[in-house]
Amino acid sequence: MKFFLDTANLDEIRQAKDYGLIDGVTTNPSLFARESEDWRTLAEKICRETPGPVSLEVIGQSAGEMIAEANELVKIGPNVVVKIPMTLEGLKAVNELTAQAIDTNVTLVFHPLQALLAAKAGATFVSPFVGRLDALAQDGMEVVGQIVAIFKNYDFRTQVLVASVRHPMHVLEAALLGAEVATIPFAVVKELSRHPLTDKGLEIFMKDWEKVKK
Ligand code: G3P
Repeated sequence: MKFFLDTANLDEIRQAKDYGLIDGVTTNPSLFARESEDWRTLAEKICRETPGPVSLEVIGQSAGEMIAEANELVKIGPNVVVKIPMTLEGLKAVNELTAQAIDTNVTLVFHPLQALLAAKAGATFVSPFVGRLDALAQDGMEVVGQIVAIFKNYDFRTQVLVASVRHPMHVLEAALLGAEVATIPFAVVKELSRHPLTDKGLEIFMKDWEKVKK
């Protein structure tokens, strides 16, 4: 299972790299808006720093605009994946970009049928937003399970990239369902390592070691 970091923050990317817990990065306009650096300069740095694919999102709404932007975005780094919104125009763009051998990540996916359309268009990744679905009392992980099943039924090569991850249970369920990727906020990545019994056990070992040393 691949872990992508859902961030445009270089410091988080570097820290996750030190832990060996980063296989790629996903960004979006909202994540860039949290950073102070010029977005293009920052995107170049993110691409250099990241050991794997980096999703950069288009802003245009028409297929033509998205395709033109995609061809600019891929110049930022050899690992750029172009993030395209799940619209009919977006599908048109994904079809064309697939023909141009440009990797795509279809974003803002909230239903298995949207994922099916993205896969048929040749998307490299499809991003169901589980946290935003849960917030509307719809089961985000159920959608992921259905997408995984559909892709398996038809041997689609499109990878399921679980996005809008809010907590460790989302990561556990994504792993159990066999999603290829989860894109995770750095705070949640760190939470995955924690267990109170680990802390307690370590404390006991350290105390007992004091006795051994005497
Ligand atoms: O990067 C796409 C997705 O993970 C965004 O999540 O937290 O804005 O719902 P969020």
